[in-house]
Formats: sequence, C-alpha cells, structure tokens
Amino acid sequence: MDLLATTAGRLDRAELLARYRRNRERSARLFGLIRDGAYESQPIPLRHPFAFYEGHLPAFSFLTLNERALGETPLDPALERLFERGIDPGTIDDARRYRRSDWPSRDQIAQFGRACDERVEAAIRTARIEDANVPRLVRGESVHTILEHEQMHHETLTYIIHQLDAADKNRVAHEHRDGPLPAARYIDVPTGVATVGALRDDIPFGWDNEFEAHAQDVPAFSIAAYPVTNGDWLAFVADGGPTPAFWVERDGAWRLRTVFEEIALPRSWPVYVTHRQASAYARWAGMRLPTEAEYHRAAYGAPGGIERPFPWGAEPASPERGNFDFTRFDPEPAGAHPLGASAWGVHELVGNGWEWTASLFEPFPGFTPMASYPQYSADFFDGKHYVMKGASPVTASELIRPSFRNWFFDDYPYMYAKFRCVY
Ligand SMILES: [Fe+2]
Repeated sequence: MDLLATTAGRLDRAELLARYRRNRERSARLFGLIRDGAYESQPIPLRHPFAFYEGHLPAFSFLTLNERALGETPLDPALERLFERGIDPGTIDDARRYRRSDWPSRDQIAQFGRACDERVEAAIRTARIEDANVPRLVRGESVHTILEHEQMHHETLTYIIHQLDAADKNRVAHEHRDGPLPAARYIDVPTGVATVGALRDDIPFGWDNEFEAHAQDVPAFSIAAYPVTNGDWLAFVADGGPTPAFWVERDGAWRLRTVFEEIALPRSWPVYVTHRQASAYARWAGMRLPTEAEYHRAAYGAPGGIERPFPWGAEPASPERGNFDFTRFDPEPAGAHPLGASAWGVHELVGNGWEWTASLFEPFPGFTPMASYPQYSADFFDGKHYVMKGASPVTASELIRPSFRNWFFDDYPYMYAKFRCVY
C-alpha cells in the first residue's frame, strides 16, 4: 500500500486538538438527543445507561493519555473508576450487576467531562505525546487511541439512541428517499493477491488487530455489484426467511424504524441484518458471504495487481463517495454514490452500512496487544465474532482505511450492517 505511506509522519498537534474538539462537539450533539427522563435508561439491555457513556468518553481519554501514558496525577479517582469500564456487559447477569440508582447528575457528569477535556487538551498542546521509548507513546499511540475510541462510541451511541422510544429523544428532521431497485448484477473479480492488514510505518495509527500486513491469494470469484436491499429481502421473507430487527409490520404492510421515525419500507435501501440472517439469505440464494480477503480484493484491488487506499482510488473520503461520516443518520438507496464504486465497478463497499464477511474475527500473524488498550481486540478472539468491513452512515471518515476491522456477534441485531453475496 505505497499510496498510504505519504500519510504517515510526525504528529500535528493543532490537527489532533481540532479533531479532539470536533469529537467532543459530536458527542455533545448526540447526548443532546436524549431527553432528561431517559438519561439513565438502557434501551439495549446489554449496553450501559446513557449516563455511563457521557462520563466514560472523557474519563477514558484522561485515563489513557494523561494518567497512564504521561503519568499525570488523577483528577477525581472515584468518578474515573466509575466511568472507566469500557467493555459492555457480556451477559444479562453482568448488566444487572452493573445497574445502580446513584449515577451522578447530568450536570455533575458534564462538569467532570469539562475537567477531563481541559487536561486532555493541555496534554495534546504541550506534553511529550510521542516517544519512541515509551510503548504507549510510540507514534503518539495514546492520542490516536482516544480519538478513535470516541469516534467508535459515536456509532454505538447512535445504535442505542435508535432503540430509544421516540418520545424520549429530540428528533433531527431530515428527508428520506427511496429509489428504483438496482439491477441484480454480478461482477467477476479475477484471481489475484489481496493485502490484508497494514504495515506499522505505512499508516499514522491502526488498532492492534490491523497488524501485520500479509498477502493472501484469492481465487477468482463473482460478487454482487450492489448490497442486498429491503426489496430483495421481501422475497426471502415471503419464502419463510427471518424478519430484520428494524422492520415492523402494521396493518399488513412492512415499515422501517429509522433512527427517529417509522416510515414505509424503502425497498431500495440496503437491508440491515445480523450475520446469521445474512448467511441464511446467502444459502437460500445458493451463494455465500465474501471472505475478508475477497472483500479486500473487491474493494481495493484493481486490474494489473495494484491496490488502492479507497475503493474509488486515492482521493480522501468525501460525501460524493459514499454515505458515511454523519452526513445523515439513515441509509440511502443502494447505488446512490456511483463515484464510490471500486475499480471493478462494485458499488458502496464503503458506506451506507458495514459489510458482513464470512470471516471470524481472528488475530493476524504477528499480532501483539497494543500498549494503550491491551484488551481492545484480545477479548474478542473467541470464535464467536465475525468481521465487518467498510463504514455505516455514522462511521467517522477518519476510520475509513483498508485495514480497519469491525466485528460483532453473529446474532447481535442493533448495528448497521448490510451484506452482499458471492459465488
Ligand atoms: Fe469505551
């Protein structure tokens, strides 16, 4: 991935500080969608209450950068401990154990957040945030960790807000449009090599599960030019297939629960389903899900054996290339961004919903847990999580890079994941 080499280099403090502030503003906007009465609610039982997340984001940043990487003194040990735990409860029993009735008030949490922000921003401005001899500071790892951690929480926070009753959230008005169903078309990708993962010197930052880069031989395959849509899925339901979690039936008609409202089912939108449901559809259709390596080949490969940093080439991610980075909360018709198509003509491999792969989430050869967040990936190499690639409408553009990997349980129903079939 030679094209990515040019983006590595020394840390730009002004840019990092601006990104931290953009993140905090986006967090404030998202928490602002939750009405006071719902602040301690848990619309998804296996996720924490909103109150936890509002404290967790600044607490994680402060603990990871100031306290653990730079050795600074604590700010408020009790609140830091309360908000530290980042991994969501694994079982309903865990979730019960975590339940409490004495969360600090919304104002107290906001005040704690501001105190953390002040210290984090001061560190980004002046501290020694890059040090080749301190594992947590190599290539500025801890600063990047806190920035991407907050951006990933923006997405999971949106999933949870999605499940909140309409009466408990402040609605963001926006237009939805349906469109014609894209033609069912399959594209032949010839035998070739996919580079999966990244080299540490080629990208400014990557999570531990992105390393090391390695080549995989990928035999020829055919892949759908567009993801499976709600319209496609209707035929599966008519034949006894499962109903996606975001669909609701009213008076014999299918409707879709978007982030803020319920609308007539847009047939041209990609269908959001679990890995288990996607796999069942693919079997029903006589096909299968792509492997992680096939996804790479379809998205980043190009004739002549070259590989490119984005499906569309080398230009940075922008709204014309796909539906991501919070331009909107919900999907658009499949194929709405022809400028985002890959070299083979495969549409929206990045944006409009993550793409399920058939691959289990596993470490690459040479995996080492990262110093700044050692449990980030290692806790999930359990043979129960599958890799998703690409981006959803609420994935920050900074997270869009070939090596970025997302993963979920095979039957977790709340995330924004679409799929396509290969044969
Ligand atoms: Fe977290």
